[in-house]
Amino acid sequence: MSVITLKQKPDNYQTYKYLRKQIGKWNTEILLHSHLGIQEDKLLQCLGSGGCKKAYQLESEKALLLPNMDSDPIEHVASRWERIVDEEVAVSKLLSRLGILSPSSERVEISPKAGDCNGTIPAYVSTSFKSFSKSNIFIIDRKDHRSSTWNRNSDSFFNPGEDRLDKDQWDQLIDPMLNDLAKVLAHGLPTTIDSMNLAIVQKNTGETSKSYQIRIFGFDFTSKCDPLSLQSTGNCEVKASQVKGALEGLLTTLFSYEFDWGFPRGKDNKEPLAFMQSLVEGYTHEVMVRAQQYSSGI
Ligand SMILES: Nc1ncnc2c1ncn2[C@@H]1O[C@H](COP(=O)(O)OP(=O)(O)O)[C@@H](O)[C@H]1O
Ligand SMILES: [Mg+2]
Repeated sequence: MSVITLKQKPDNYQTYKYLRKQIGKWNTEILLHSHLGIQEDKLLQCLGSGGCKKAYQLESEKALLLPNMDSDPIEHVASRWERIVDEEVAVSKLLSRLGILSPSSERVEISPKAGDCNGTIPAYVSTSFKSFSKSNIFIIDRKDHRSSTWNRNSDSFFNPGEDRLDKDQWDQLIDPMLNDLAKVLAHGLPTTIDSMNLAIVQKNTGETSKSYQIRIFGFDFTSKCDPLSLQSTGNCEVKASQVKGALEGLLTTLFSYEFDWGFPRGKDNKEPLAFMQSLVEGYTHEVMVRAQQYSSGI
């Protein structure tokens, strides 16, 4: 029989309760408390949600990440939420230190502007995926294509007429992602579909021609139950099976955006699938070598 532990109501219970009722209502006014002081802002539309968090567009352009309180009791949400905020912010800072793209998350405290409740709750502000488009960086959210800013129906990594099964082209596209993945693995960070998202960096090479580089874009590393252990040194043991699994997942997502949403299923996907599998074999070895070089500081 499972035992449900009753958690105590936190001091800021009323703030959680007020926000749970209020979020989702257009234009809820909030106060953001940070090292910059207290700033007024507004919650606009919900940008997306998952099992643990909800992202809101703020009037000030940033995204605000709040707990998803749709199903779990507030006491349970409150007992884990501060840890989740601190871990997401810490991993985002580690990624930028490693030169890996992330939404640059910063911890804040928030409180409703109206409402009769004491106390603030922790949260974090991030650069919204849409804002990255201004710098020609397009995001693939692997768990929710609706929040991706790389469009699966119209965007392509190739210029019209180029061979999309050309290994040299893929090598160039993917090379920066292999470096990112080697660093992530050497630091023992999770390489699940939740956390290993993708950024497509566009360079304009002519009037109409473009070239792209594919990078890891890291967010959503935390879990509801287990704390995240962050290694400051990048010398974790890296297993070939783990690298292969991560690469298969990442390339399957990229091929589904480039070729066919149903990829790898479907009779028309035989050739791209065989091509992708040959890439995974070669890149697995390459990432192992790079992770090893990175660990030993070469
Ligand atoms: N910086 C952001 N800009 C835009 N949308 C975001 C941002 N961060 C998160 N989201 C949206 O919120 C969803 C949930 O965030 P995520 O960190 O994946 O939380 P969960 O742990 O609940 O899966 C994402 O899938 C995405 O749709
Ligand atoms: Mg998620």
